[in-house]
Amino acid sequence: MKIRQAKGLTFDDVLLVPQRSAIRSRNDVNTATRLTPAISMRIPVISANMDTVTEAGMAIAMARAGGIGIIHRFMTIEQQVQQVRRVKRAEGFMVEHPRTISRRDTVGRARAIMDEFDVGGLVVRNGGDELVGLVTQRDVRLAPDRNAPVESVMTPPDELITASPGISIEKAREMLHSMRLEKLPVVDDAGKLVGLITAQDILKQNRHPDATTDEKGRLRVGAAIGVQANDIERTAALTEAGADALVLDIAHGHADHCLKMIETLHQKFPSAQIIAGNVASKAGAYDLAMAGVDAVKVGVGPGSICTTRIVTGFGVPQLTAIMDSVSGVKEAGRNIPVIADGGLKMSGDMVKALAAGAAAVMIGSMFAGTEESPGATVIRNGQKFKVVRGMASLGAAMGRRAAETPADESAESQQDWDKVVPEGIEAVVPYRGHVGEVLYQMVGGLRSGMSYGGARTIPELWANAEFVEITPAGRRESHSHDVDRV
Ligand code: XMP
Repeated sequence: MKIRQAKGLTFDDVLLVPQRSAIRSRNDVNTATRLTPAISMRIPVISANMDTVTEAGMAIAMARAGGIGIIHRFMTIEQQVQQVRRVKRAEGFMVEHPRTISRRDTVGRARAIMDEFDVGGLVVRNGGDELVGLVTQRDVRLAPDRNAPVESVMTPPDELITASPGISIEKAREMLHSMRLEKLPVVDDAGKLVGLITAQDILKQNRHPDATTDEKGRLRVGAAIGVQANDIERTAALTEAGADALVLDIAHGHADHCLKMIETLHQKFPSAQIIAGNVASKAGAYDLAMAGVDAVKVGVGPGSICTTRIVTGFGVPQLTAIMDSVSGVKEAGRNIPVIADGGLKMSGDMVKALAAGAAAVMIGSMFAGTEESPGATVIRNGQKFKVVRGMASLGAAMGRRAAETPADESAESQQDWDKVVPEGIEAVVPYRGHVGEVLYQMVGGLRSGMSYGGARTIPELWANAEFVEITPAGRRESHSHDVDRV
């Protein structure tokens, strides 16, 4: 048995000491960071892989704002793949797998596909991958005969203007404008369809200048995986669907089976960006870093809905966990990001987490109340709330079981819920509007914080950080006090 004499500290135990600063305006700071060595982001914020926080809607909003969302894994492989695909399709100046229709399909069918997938046009194909025309809303909307074949209303091949693979966004914009086109199919030398560029997608790119995008201009997205046998299959499917990073996320990431899984992932998916966790110690971060992960996720029990520390007695106050993990990664000689996961209540906590050495923060409940989260909405005393639940809560376990069990399953195979030992709770949080608004406030707080720290960049914030431990009186003084709030 050993006992550490140094106190474990968390966000509320400290403040940052203001530093001499040459920064005149908070607009003069740069909040750019890395999710992994290969993926950069303009804001250091990640939405958590929880089933009440991140599905495609949240991931799209996060990536547009300059962060990233991690799609949770508590759904079937097909469902998770669909979620990833939705994000990858949301933007990008070229759609890689545009919706298609056969020339002999009917006008009615073309309308139905456009409505179902909310697209303004379909590429007409000739059985295989050969492009034979283009049909748009304008061609079908008022067509008198819904049973007429698509080829009777489409733009025929000899009138089609196409582009070659590798076209730049500037060139595509110029072609669309000068020829007053809405859509530009991309075909290779053999006439095979490679993608579709639309005026709408180019406009969207302009609307989100900070967006986290891949080399094709598509939004980036991460997806969570576990350590079960079918997680290799899950990883293969997610990678194929275009997931940019895989988050190997288990409650106790400093475990042999986690390290083994990292080894297997490296063998089978050598180019995948792998983030692994969660750990809360120097040794844990060291071992993950030595195993070759691309980022280490830190936090055992700080989360708003976590009861791990109460149920098991294990955990490390989050600020200490971040600092220890950063030193573990350094000791391993790896220059990889540390992600501070959980426990953030306000923007000042994010500044402290970053100043302690994290490259980015992961957030659950602060985002669970937003429009984009998949959590259910509830009304209490006339006020709107949204549900948030720990992924190790009883409710989440029951939800998972219901999703996995066929409806006609017999009663005796039902789980005995008394035997579940939850390490999380279910709760509600006030509705907070769009996540973009929450992020705006948070990033504003970060920018201001960086100017107090004399830091133009996050690495400068690391270098300049000086924490002071505070007393309960200091904490009381930090909040508004001795006034009646209006
Ligand atoms: P916040 O505080 O942002 O934390 O809501 C989000 C993080 O909490 C973790 N998490 C859990 N931890 N039991 C736990 O001990 C749970 O049931 C649970 N569910 C989520 C997770 O790391 C998440 O990102």
